[in-house]
Amino acid sequence: MVYKVKFVDPAKVYEMIKDELDVAYFEVMDKGDLIDRGQLKSFETNLAAFVGTKYAVGLNSGYDALHLSLRAAGIGSGDEVIVPAHTFVATASAVVNVGAKPVLVDVGKDFNIDCGEIAAAITLRTKAIIPVHLSGYMADMVQVMEIAAKHDLVVVEDACQSLGASMMGKMAGSWGLTGCWSFYPFKILGGYGDGGAITTNNPDVALFATRMRYNGEDRDTGEYHGHGFTCLLDNLQAAFLDVKLRHLPKWIIRRKEIAARYRAALSDIPDLLLPHYRDPRRDHVYQNYTVRSKRGNDFSEFMKTRGVEVLTQFRKPYYRHEALKLEDRGFPETGTLSREVCSLPMNVEIADEEVDYVIEVVRSF
Ligand SMILES: Cc1ncc(COP(=O)(O)O)c(C=O)c1O
Repeated sequence: MVYKVKFVDPAKVYEMIKDELDVAYFEVMDKGDLIDRGQLKSFETNLAAFVGTKYAVGLNSGYDALHLSLRAAGIGSGDEVIVPAHTFVATASAVVNVGAKPVLVDVGKDFNIDCGEIAAAITLRTKAIIPVHLSGYMADMVQVMEIAAKHDLVVVEDACQSLGASMMGKMAGSWGLTGCWSFYPFKILGGYGDGGAITTNNPDVALFATRMRYNGEDRDTGEYHGHGFTCLLDNLQAAFLDVKLRHLPKWIIRRKEIAARYRAALSDIPDLLLPHYRDPRRDHVYQNYTVRSKRGNDFSEFMKTRGVEVLTQFRKPYYRHEALKLEDRGFPETGTLSREVCSLPMNVEIADEEVDYVIEVVRSF
């Protein structure tokens, strides 16, 4: 289907910053700098500075960031890790793939882990908690860190959807042992293929990830420090991401403008819950603008038939996929919101007239 307003339009972003991206591309190609070169180091330095951590380690994906974080924390067989019931499946898969058990906890109205439910999920085997900052809005990290300190748990932040978000001025990805990032093309900082990173203040974790992403090898000495993986962020992707990172602060401002436009035009509709929350400590960067309608599928289908591309993640929560063999203890909020969610177009390439068209279609429903 050809949409009148696309959910995202990567070709349009390319047009917006073509000159800079082309320079980055030709620099890499002219020099043949493909693996672990200056562009990667530059991006890592700039990402760490942006997040406010000492280190950033570029990886192949957000999944790899979660996976290596858990390995760095020594989590494995027999351990339990608390994860939210409403997230992308990779959060839980990383836990399963290190041999540990994900223990799911319901989310609150802000789509993030319900901190009031965490204590009940803690057992003697619990070793870590992975709060997910969904859609550009942080989980309540003050509470998460308090609970973690009380029970001696490692905190790995799944910040894949929230680069630039903060709480009390402290950036997402700088609170836990690691912050995990995804640069999947449609993320707030998207590459031109897969990409990810860890941010951390812990030198041992940074060194571990730097070696393990390259089959365990220390690239200076050639020594293998363990059985590792091939999950390095490509130099070419790093070059592109470094260009886009420079634009991110003003792009976040633009996202907030669009969110304000949606809010002003849609907040009087009784059936529509908008993603504007009352916590002044947390700054939303609107990676996604996810509304809730009790008429979930009717609403999202209506939007599509009128030419507005929307996303309905996740109509079927991951724990209901049988093959994953996860425990469904009944998560009321996740169950309800999964029927109701609908993310409206939210990106830096959208024009005001397109936002207005989306508003018009929502109102006509
Ligand atoms: C919340 C969350 N966690 C983890 C991931 C995994 O990231 P990637 O697709 O880069 O592996 C994603 C992105 O898709 C995500 O949105």
